[in-house]
Order: sequence, then C-alpha cells, then structure tokens
Amino acid sequence: MGLKLRDEFPLCKKYIYFDCAAQGAMPLTTIKTIQEYEMDLVALYKAETPWKDSLKKWEEKRSNSKKLFAEIIGCQSEEVAFVSNATNGLNTIFGMIPIKRGQNVVTTDMEFPMCNALVNSQRRKGAEPRFIKSKDGIVTLEQFEKTVDDKTAVVMVDHPTWFNGYTYDLKALSELAHNHGAKLVIDVTQGVGSINWEAKKWGVDFAATSTYKWLMGGPYSQSAGFMYANKEYFDDYLPPVVSASAYELTPNKQSKNSVYFTYNVKSKKGINRFEVYNRSEIAYVAVENSMKLILSHGKKEVERQVKDVDNAIVNGALEAGYVLGTPEDESQRMYVSLKVPEPEKIPGKLYEHGVIASYRVGGLRISPHFYNTVDEAEKFISILKKVAPIN
Ligand SMILES: Cc1ncc(COP(=O)(O)O)c(C=O)c1O
Repeated sequence: MGLKLRDEFPLCKKYIYFDCAAQGAMPLTTIKTIQEYEMDLVALYKAETPWKDSLKKWEEKRSNSKKLFAEIIGCQSEEVAFVSNATNGLNTIFGMIPIKRGQNVVTTDMEFPMCNALVNSQRRKGAEPRFIKSKDGIVTLEQFEKTVDDKTAVVMVDHPTWFNGYTYDLKALSELAHNHGAKLVIDVTQGVGSINWEAKKWGVDFAATSTYKWLMGGPYSQSAGFMYANKEYFDDYLPPVVSASAYELTPNKQSKNSVYFTYNVKSKKGINRFEVYNRSEIAYVAVENSMKLILSHGKKEVERQVKDVDNAIVNGALEAGYVLGTPEDESQRMYVSLKVPEPEKIPGKLYEHGVIASYRVGGLRISPHFYNTVDEAEKFISILKKVAPIN
C-alpha cells in the first residue's frame, strides 16, 4: 500500500516526511481541491460566475466533512461540531461540563502545554488540577486508579501524547472515570486519522482536534477543527460561549416577524448549541477530501501501515544502540521518540539528507503516516547513524 500511495503525496517524492505530528503531508487531490476552491472564490468576486449558488458544491463538501469525521473517530455525525481548532474545542468542552468547587480534574505531566494550561485553569472554578507524574514517557493505569476519586469531574489526556506518541488504554480509562462519575475528555489531535478510532465503543465522552496533522487537511495557517460530544449530554449542558448561531431564532410580532432584533434566548437542541464557529470553508473542503482518502484505504489498514513503519524505526534504532523515549510495545505507541546525542541539532542535519522530523522534549520525534514505507524507515536509520552517531 505504502509504495502506491507515495505517488499521491508530492512531498513524499522529495523527502522522507516523518513529521506528521507537526503537520501532515497533503495528497495531490487535496492540493488540487484547495486550488479549485480558491479559483471559484476569485471567479465569484470578479463577477465571472453567478453570485447565487456558485459555491454550493463547496458548502455540501463542508457539511459532508462532519459525516466523514464521525466515521473516522467512531461516532454519529450529529455528535460533531465545527470548532476553530483543538484549543477552542477543548475550551468549549471544559466550559460546558459543570465543574464545581471542591472537585478535581485529573491529567498527567506529559500532555500538550495547551491541555495542561486548560486543566490548570480549572482552579478558577475552585477545582483542584491533579497532574500525575510520568516516568520514562509513561503513565500507567494504576497511577490513574490511585489519583481518580469520587470528586473527579474530568479525566483528560492527549491520545497519543504529543512528544513521544504514547497511547493510553482508553477503554480502561473511561471505565475508571465513569465508575467515579467523571467524564473522559481526549485531545485527539495527534492520532485521529492514523488510529483506528472507536470513540463511542471506548466510552470517550468528549474530544477535539485540529485538521492539519493526521487528518491531512493542512496547512496550519488555514486550518480548522472538529469537536465530538456524546449526544447523551447535549441537553444537560449549556454552551459556554454566546452566539446567535447557537440560539433558536424566533420571529416576533413587535419586530414584524423579523428575527433580526429579538431572539428568544433559548439554546438550540443538539450539538448546534455549542457550535459558534463554522467558517473556514477552505479548511473543511480540504480535510473532507483527505478524510475520503483515509477511509478509502480503511481505518484498520491505515493504523497497520503506520505501525509497520514505526516498528521498523523502533527495531532499527534498538539494533543501532539508540535508547527509546517511547514504549517498545506497539500497542502503547503511535509514533516514536528517540534519545539521540544533541537531539535539538538533529532535525537540521537530517534535513540535509532529505529527512523531515522534529525535536520535542529532549528527544527526536519521528512521526510517519500511512504514506510512509518500511523502506523509508530503513533508509532513515542508516542516515541517523551518520548524523547522530552513538559514541
Ligand atoms: C496534542 C495537541 N493538541 C493540540 C495541538 C494544536 O492545537 P491548536 O491547533 O488548537 O493550536 C497540538 C499541536 O502540536 C498538539 O500536539
């Protein structure tokens, strides 16, 4: 699969692109989708196409992106909202869950800084943030079991963790959270699009992502996001942010049945009550196209391909004497962090050999997607041995 796919990703013809955790490569059809969309917009504003309905097909694609995202994460499309990015989605989630004084919110010290800041900010509500201490890039289920109690309102993690690709047992975490009456909130930015997600089956209550990494809806500068919320909670929770689009607009006699000046301050039913951001059509039509490609390859097959490439990196690195910053067991990781000498200097040296990867939290982060191959992993190890030799 990998080899055939490479032809669809222009970046992969020139580079060994192992940096999906920063930004995903884009398939050619998505690049063309962006071009076509831009051209249609230009034509509209140059009055070369009719003002009415010329962009209709794009509106349909934008709507369809919710359906495809639902399939990718494993929920129903009416449980998906547009949000501006992962940050906005997670803030919305923490705004809607009624977290009270005296409760606590549990996470780890390995999560993305935005997530840790968000958990920490729950102090404002009088809740206690609890950061479980990791050891060697791992936090075990037993550590969660010791930390979560009946006063826990939320358990929150990124899955996988942003700097080393560590993955949790989400089914076990959701059972633990639910047994204590807590909700499980996941930042899925680093794995939705590569992991064979089953959010509902695993008992995940809320999740959010941006579109520019594993969903391949790049680039970052024109990205957007999705939020998933289990529909059981919609009607109990109030939207934390006010917007006309989240309210039911009801005509009223005084304004001659115009809805413009008076609204009934009643939140819409369903996920729309939380959706105050629904722009960035270009980001949604781009990611819609890329998600079709992911689904056409099959969620299971995508995950398998990523893990095969990861395994080749892990095995090659261990054989060469490097130390892993990631568990060796493939069921506990989705990408790889390596302890190499002077890791901050290595991405620049790798780039000279046509390899793109990143330095994060003391390690070299290598994050392949399904467009990468085992051959590339082997080539990468031979380049790594040259640019980061172990003394
Ligand atoms: C786990 C995780 N969440 C979120 C983000 C980015 O969030 P946003 O696009 O909202 O800035 C990143 C980016 O690296 C990330 O690693």
